Amino acid sequence: MSRFSPSEVTVVFVLGGPGSGKGTQSTNLVRDYGFIHLSAGDLLRAEQNREGSEYGDLIRTYIREGKIVPMEITVALLSNSMADAISTASSSSSSAAKARFLVDGFPRKLDQAVFFEKTVCPSEFTLFLTCPEEVMEKRLLKRGETSGRDDDNAESIRKRFRTFVETSMPVVDAFREQDKVVSVEATGSVDEVYERIREGLKTKGLHPL
Ligand code: ADP
Ligand code: C5P
Ligand code: MG
Repeated sequence: MSRFSPSEVTVVFVLGGPGSGKGTQSTNLVRDYGFIHLSAGDLLRAEQNREGSEYGDLIRTYIREGKIVPMEITVALLSNSMADAISTASSSSSSAAKARFLVDGFPRKLDQAVFFEKTVCPSEFTLFLTCPEEVMEKRLLKRGETSGRDDDNAESIRKRFRTFVETSMPVVDAFREQDKVVSVEATGSVDEVYERIREGLKTKGLHPL
């Protein structure tokens, strides 16, 4: 039995290579569709910096190497964040609507996908942003000028691209076989990409609030 039922929450995964625009477009979707945004990478970075965390050093090393953090850590962070968000929503007055979660940067490996859907909640579908590496690299090097992220440097970026191709693409392929992928080209301006995303979500019956 999963912790949450798809009848009470909607889970949409957002995947795409590093720098494809997952975080940027998630912000748009939160604004217009009432999604709650959970970024696996953001949750891992917060856990890395949390005083007293037993996983801080491990997470730091995995992130710098562009490797996938053991799934138990990431799934627990996501599952607990979902529970927190639901309990916050149900204690406020506007609790009637079904919670919509946008789970950004997850699942990055097949074992995470299987474990999450079994123990936390089955996903509705995956929004997949496609982008050539040259475009993503340019965006990430620019982001690195101000992000303060340990992994926005040329060497880590190369490793992250490799992990994406070898480890994360099989997840997209598996969901595609289940007809659960909305693929959107993520080149061009932020607005152009967002327009394509809105069209894509329409095909899954999702509309702005
Ligand atoms: P991801 O979460 O997929 O790694 P981000 O949303 O953080 O990607 O975007 C990576 C960088 O590229 C950010 O600095 C962001 O401002 C920028 N960016 C995002 N989308 C676009 C776009 N369509 N065109 C140009 N720059 C973009
Ligand atoms: O999505 P983001 O670019 O913020 O992820 C940064 C890093 O966090 C990844 O390169 C990876 O090391 C780690 N991560 C992970 N498992 C996830 C998401 C992110 O290990 N599901
Ligand atoms: Mg991101």
